[in-house]
Amino acid sequence: MDLEQIVADAQVAFSKAADAADLENRKARFLGKAGLLTERLKGLCKLAPEARKTEGVAINAAKEKIEAALAARRQSMADALLNERLASEQIDVTLPGRGQEPGSLHPVMRTWERIEQIFRSIGFEVADGPEIENDWTNFTALNSPENHPARSMQDTFYIDGNDASGKPLLLRTHTSPMQVRHARMNKPPIKVIAPGRTYRVDSDATHSPMFHQVEGLWIAEDISFADLKGVYADFLKNFFERDDIKMRFRPSYFPFTEPSAEIDMAFGDGRWLEISGSGQVHPTVIRNMGLDPELYIGFAFGSGLERLTMLRYGIDDLRLFFEGDVRFLAQFA
Ligand code: PHE
Repeated sequence: MDLEQIVADAQVAFSKAADAADLENRKARFLGKAGLLTERLKGLCKLAPEARKTEGVAINAAKEKIEAALAARRQSMADALLNERLASEQIDVTLPGRGQEPGSLHPVMRTWERIEQIFRSIGFEVADGPEIENDWTNFTALNSPENHPARSMQDTFYIDGNDASGKPLLLRTHTSPMQVRHARMNKPPIKVIAPGRTYRVDSDATHSPMFHQVEGLWIAEDISFADLKGVYADFLKNFFERDDIKMRFRPSYFPFTEPSAEIDMAFGDGRWLEISGSGQVHPTVIRNMGLDPELYIGFAFGSGLERLTMLRYGIDDLRLFFEGDVRFLAQFA
């Protein structure tokens, strides 16, 4: 095949290339290792010196033409692409900018911070603990018998991996394990709150699989239910910044308190709402804290932060907290 023909074929082939990848494929047929021109160059050694010289010059000239055609086609493809983008991505510089709104704290986090502030002001420490718990701290140490409903698989999330005793790790179902964790690392008097995330297999308008609680614990030689009542009533008044708060204790059951009570509250003559579990810490739990139940006594409570937040702001659906809708969140900025 003569060189003129090869150059002409290459020009046609390049012009028909559909896109950049196709063009590179087509290039191989002419300039590649086994391409037409390369084959011709390999044939040079068989020619006589004079013929080799003229043929070599001719092949190089053809090669330059093909390379020029390739470069031109590459450029025209790039131009076409750019023009396409320019046409489709027009920017209207007369439109107003989108701006950057400052962020704000999530309403549940505001509640968390308020609670810390209120309890700190009356001498409580604030403690933090793991969300991935072991069976002992979440259940056994809190006097929850093996067959207690809170232990069933439906109630909590188990984690791949076991604790030292071979029991599966789990996401804590309440902040109560912090009672034992904190008490074992500190000497009485123990006066602490432990706010944090908790998890249960539960999901509807009033339950979320992840939610927040604050645990309260006060242990000393003489801490009674009357102290619980005083501390909690004072907390509610400060938290809601209202004087028309009614509070009542309703007998209940928790394995880790005895006696146990639900704390209900109402605004004025409004309806009663349950806001917290509470009770005198059970002697078995005191023992698991490493303390002598003959010497130490006190109360514990566990309240839901979402519930407190909903009451404070008049929010009726818990799911709003977790949807991340700025129209909702911006109202608390
Ligand atoms: N841990 C209990 C719950 O999650 C609440 C509670 C805490 C009750 C402390 C009594 C004492 O329901």
